[in-house]
Amino acid sequence: MDRRQFCGSAMAAVTGAAIGRRTGTGLLGGVWGPEAGDATATSGQAASTLRARAAAKGLLFGSAGSQGPLTSDTAYAAAFARECGILTPEAELKWGTLRPSPTTYNFAPGDWLQQWAASNSMLFRGHTLDFWQSVPGWFAKTVNPGNAAQFLQSHIQTVCSHYAGKVHSWDVVNEIIDTGSGRPDGLRNSMWTQLIGPDHIADAFRWAQAADPNALLVLNDFGFEYANADSDARRQAMLALLAKLLGAGVPVQALGLQTHLFAGMTAQFKPAVYQTFLKQVSDMGLKILITEMDVQDRGLPGDTASRDAQIAAIYTQVLTAALANPAVIVVETWGLSDKYSWLQQHAMRSDGMEVRTLPLDDGMQPKAVYNAIGQAFDAAPTRSS
Ligand code: G3I
Repeated sequence: MDRRQFCGSAMAAVTGAAIGRRTGTGLLGGVWGPEAGDATATSGQAASTLRARAAAKGLLFGSAGSQGPLTSDTAYAAAFARECGILTPEAELKWGTLRPSPTTYNFAPGDWLQQWAASNSMLFRGHTLDFWQSVPGWFAKTVNPGNAAQFLQSHIQTVCSHYAGKVHSWDVVNEIIDTGSGRPDGLRNSMWTQLIGPDHIADAFRWAQAADPNALLVLNDFGFEYANADSDARRQAMLALLAKLLGAGVPVQALGLQTHLFAGMTAQFKPAVYQTFLKQVSDMGLKILITEMDVQDRGLPGDTASRDAQIAAIYTQVLTAALANPAVIVVETWGLSDKYSWLQQHAMRSDGMEVRTLPLDDGMQPKAVYNAIGQAFDAAPTRSS
């Protein structure tokens, strides 16, 4: 099957997955069909969850989640199961969790999440195989230019094989663009680039495909949304990388747009610039996934109603522009409830108030962001299977 055929069948399966019914045999090979839990999406009744409203348009909605809160917080777990059609492990499949030592794998947290997702009729994303963060302590002492390719290959082979048939898509390479690296190709000087050279990108995709031919293989990155010099340089570097990989027959099948947004940069979002980039990507035959959407709300007033409205407007603006392109098949936020957003630790507000960035508040009540996402799905063109 060539890449275009794959994308067609992947889309059909993804659309089936979005309407949620498992029929039993595999994942992107046509295994997921409509699911009773999402019947509202197809029965003509009012769709009442983000999952169902997405599915009604052939889209998948989901979020990043972690075993800890999904185990300890029953209200959060119930909301997650109700609203999400797909789950991305926030930490459980990164090297820092998966690789306690150079020779061992700790699959227990990832397996728990995968099984929790499956038991709630949710698809499961793999995140991530080749990343510059979440590096285990033993790595620097153990991995060197002589053995790095073997370490990466064996990790990808082992992990992708372990989850083969259970993963909707893999973020094979994560955050490889860094236009400040000093490299003319704009690639990040990650440890893999330093140890192996830039071929680790193509190699990682080939190894992933060999181990799990049915997972959609994604290049996932951030910082493409704004009409400014930094985003423009990142867009150009990404387009050049994708063209090079595809020209060499590398099985990259989708671009993941993390979509970590900044309220203070809203004036720099120009839909036409963003949509041109998405079209350049989809014209290459690639699917597009919005993988980690959220908004840093520093600079916005503390007043909750006004802040929520402004954050929701950012979601509306970006999702409306993105969903106009039918290659966009997945929308995920990076966490479902503000209670567990990484931004509470990484982008604190100067007034000390909680960051209000995700669809649900601390009490699992829907906020303006929730309505903005749902309305963007309601207004989106239906994806064809
Ligand atoms: O588990 C340890 C804990 O034992 C320790 O006490 C604590 C002290 O700081 O650290 C804990 O580890 C943290 C880990 O998350 C688990 O919560 C790390 O410090 C922290 O750096 C790590 O951050 C994660 C980050 O990726 C790095 O892996 C964030 O939670 C996670 O949201 C973030 O996710 C990334 C995506 O993978 C890629 N795109 C950007 C996104 C946000 O940065």
